[in-house]
Amino acid sequence: MSRALIIGATSAIAEATARILAQRGWHLYLTGRDPQRLEAIALDLKLRGAASVNFQTLEANDFAAHDLMLARADAALHYFDTALIAHGTLSDQIACESSFELALQEITTNALSVVSLSSRIATRLAARHSGTIVVISSVAGDRGRQSNYVYGCAKSLVTTFLSGLRQRMHKYGVNVITVKPGFVDTPMTAAFAKGLLWSKPESVAAGIVSAIARKRDVVYLPFFWRPIMLMVRLVPERVFKRLTL
Ligand SMILES: NC(=O)c1ccc[n+]([C@@H]2O[C@H](COP(=O)([O-])OP(=O)(O)OC[C@H]3O[C@@H](n4cnc5c(N)ncnc54)[C@H](OP(=O)(O)O)[C@@H]3O)[C@@H](O)[C@H]2O)c1
Repeated sequence: MSRALIIGATSAIAEATARILAQRGWHLYLTGRDPQRLEAIALDLKLRGAASVNFQTLEANDFAAHDLMLARADAALHYFDTALIAHGTLSDQIACESSFELALQEITTNALSVVSLSSRIATRLAARHSGTIVVISSVAGDRGRQSNYVYGCAKSLVTTFLSGLRQRMHKYGVNVITVKPGFVDTPMTAAFAKGLLWSKPESVAAGIVSAIARKRDVVYLPFFWRPIMLMVRLVPERVFKRLTL
């Protein structure tokens, strides 16, 4: 493993992950929406030791562009063996409650685009009988809460989809990793007050790289979110519906 396609490469978590891979001399292909940021990140990754860095712009919701992007990534990397899907938006829950169109847009960005990308990537890696697909889902997908259930349901869709994809890909030697971070201090969460449970993108990135090396299936990052979410899932619905979370 040493040739990674990174989708949503301008995300703080993806960039921190790419830095670790660059220091290990990987070949990288980046996609994102902002060409200037991509160019700056690519330059930085080359200086950090990446064997090669190429990039292109990609709007994740432009499903018709996915196959061409994957063909370009394969050409630039001489066939990628690892794909990280990291893009996402933290939905405005209140606005989504009064606008189905906005809710649909959020679900499209956070879930349907991931289904399209991971399906197409899986087809390519299955034909090679090896590879790793890493997708950033979220602890928010483990249970719907009134404060963010539009974002949560999109991540839940991703988590369930990946569970099925993992089973399907196992016989092809393709590993599918679901990453479930808790609270991470990134531009996505800039408006939130930070506390004890918060992590830095660098520590989540280290967890992602370790999960790739160890061929993990589902990782909570940091690890303590696994017992926290187990407890959250165990609360009976009769009690849960009365809580303000
Ligand atoms: N931060 C957290 O607490 C947290 C917790 C759990 C899971 N996650 C997940 O971690 C992943 C990375 O997020 P982050 O925390 O690193 O946030 P971030 O730095 O704000 O990155 C989000 C990225 O998604 C990209 N993006 C959004 N919509 C897109 C679209 N339609 N097409 C292409 N790119 C798009 C953004 O690109 P632009 O710069 O062009 O807008 C940005 O690069 C996301 O999937 C997020 O849901 C984050």
